[in-house]
Amino acid sequence: MKLDLLFLPSEIRNSDLQEKLVIVIDVLRASSTIVTALSNGAKDIIPVESQEDATRLMQEIGRKYVLLCGERGGQKIEGFDLGNSPFEYTNEVIQEKTLIFCSTNGSRAIVKASAAAKVMVGCFINLGTVLENVLESKPKEVVLLCSGKEDRFSLEDTVCAGMMVSRLKERLTESLELSDSAQAGLQVYGQHQKSLLKMLNSSLHGKYLLSLGFQEDLVYCSQVDSIPVVPVLETGHLVKAPL
Ligand code: MLT
Repeated sequence: MKLDLLFLPSEIRNSDLQEKLVIVIDVLRASSTIVTALSNGAKDIIPVESQEDATRLMQEIGRKYVLLCGERGGQKIEGFDLGNSPFEYTNEVIQEKTLIFCSTNGSRAIVKASAAAKVMVGCFINLGTVLENVLESKPKEVVLLCSGKEDRFSLEDTVCAGMMVSRLKERLTESLELSDSAQAGLQVYGQHQKSLLKMLNSSLHGKYLLSLGFQEDLVYCSQVDSIPVVPVLETGHLVKAPL
């Protein structure tokens, strides 16, 4: 299996993805929130690129059938039902709902990846389950797509991608072919593997979320293998992959 790592969605050229399985990573916080929402009973999640797309879609589907979810600058968008903290996505609030989800980097990366043969959403909290799912699919090529932060490199997404490389390497040994960027991700992970929470607290977006009072979100997002749910994209909707 060939394994590549893209540090930013802007590295995608559409034709590149068509035959590949892509794992979209936005540790803080879109991937972690999406995993939590599907684990807590959301029916499905429609990722969109902009607030305008979210509102248009909500009007098409009908206000009473959906929740409008997402953030700008880490805070809930005015007029939306939910922001982007995983703690907002409780079973009572989201059970059996369709969520229209719009975040600054994560939802855009998912939409950009949608030309791929298969798209999954991954982060620390579902890392092991995502990789089990990948191994079962037996793809020839896998791309770990980091969402980044406003078109800049993000440490937490790269460390998470590096951890995925590390675990796949343990499982597949010689049959895994790593790109240069996948090797770089592995090295970055090696430097931070002893304390993922410390790494999150020191990252640019982590520090920003701390300044907004989201300490508990960082702790939550650092808990490796805490939720065995894999969001997979099916005709524009993220649903729970069967385990
Ligand atoms: C994003 O998609 O940019 C993030 O999830 C932002 C956030 O932490 O809310």
